Amino acid sequence: MGADTNDETGSESAAGTEVAYVNGVFLPIDRAVVSIDDRGFQFADGVYEVVSTYGGRPYAMEAHMDRLQSSLQELRIPYDVTGIPAIVTEGIRRGGFAEALVYIQITRGVAPWHHEFPRLPLQPTVVMTVKQLHRPDATLHQKGVSVVTTPDLRWKRCDIKSIALLPNILAKQLAHEAGAYEALLVDDQQRVTEGSSTSSFRVDGGVVFTSPPGPHILPSITRGVLIDLIRELGIELREEFSSVAAYRSADEVFLAGTTTEAMPVIRIDETQIGDGAPGPVTRRIRQAFEKSVRAR
Ligand code: PDD
Repeated sequence: MGADTNDETGSESAAGTEVAYVNGVFLPIDRAVVSIDDRGFQFADGVYEVVSTYGGRPYAMEAHMDRLQSSLQELRIPYDVTGIPAIVTEGIRRGGFAEALVYIQITRGVAPWHHEFPRLPLQPTVVMTVKQLHRPDATLHQKGVSVVTTPDLRWKRCDIKSIALLPNILAKQLAHEAGAYEALLVDDQQRVTEGSSTSSFRVDGGVVFTSPPGPHILPSITRGVLIDLIRELGIELREEFSSVAAYRSADEVFLAGTTTEAMPVIRIDETQIGDGAPGPVTRRIRQAFEKSVRAR
């Protein structure tokens, strides 16, 4: 925690102090509370963002804020996110971590339990935590990871970054129990939409494929960054659906996400991908990503 802060001490470690923020107040994480009547708690009536830092600076903040505003708008939660970047910056400063993971959640607010929105306008609940960022071990990037497949049980508005994550959680738990890094979600037409908390890509004949934008996937910030880099590299990119069979027979597969970055996949269920090692296209894309992050 910064020497000039007057707040109480939170969960301190040599690396920094975990920070919480609730409705305008920074406080120790174990003291941060919201009402039992919060509609986020009662109905998952809220949205969230996860922002990571590079060199201590929040990455792609503008894109995260655009997505947050759009998620709020889709759920008709009247909140303007203009003030959020300053809160994030202050939280990162107070945390003092070399690299931080910032979680931001905005819910419709506190109201007696009724499904419909309350008649009187609510004050949305704004919550943030800042913790130490743990990116996946470098050996995972070097060796690649395995994934499992599972039906995509999510609703029809996956483009909204809603805090209602039960299908994602169940899919990730399945992966965890199988010793896999991620679960690829497969829709009713046997197409891969994305991962439970990552975007997914496959490479075939030097062409990169990823699901098109729309209500069946989250508009992942990392996906957007990688698409730009792939095009800059002169690699052909097609935003098209791919069947799970096409994923299994792909030359290369990789995942993308805020902490995952661009992660090679070398196994889907029992099927080895390519020669079982990260492929050249994935490696090029990852290098371009690292370079673009260093250049910021
Ligand atoms: N997950 N797809 C889904 C379903 C996600 O939940 C996420 C992010 C992504 C990748 O999006 P981005 O590049 O913006 O991180 C794709 C966040 C990080 C999470 O729930 O932890």
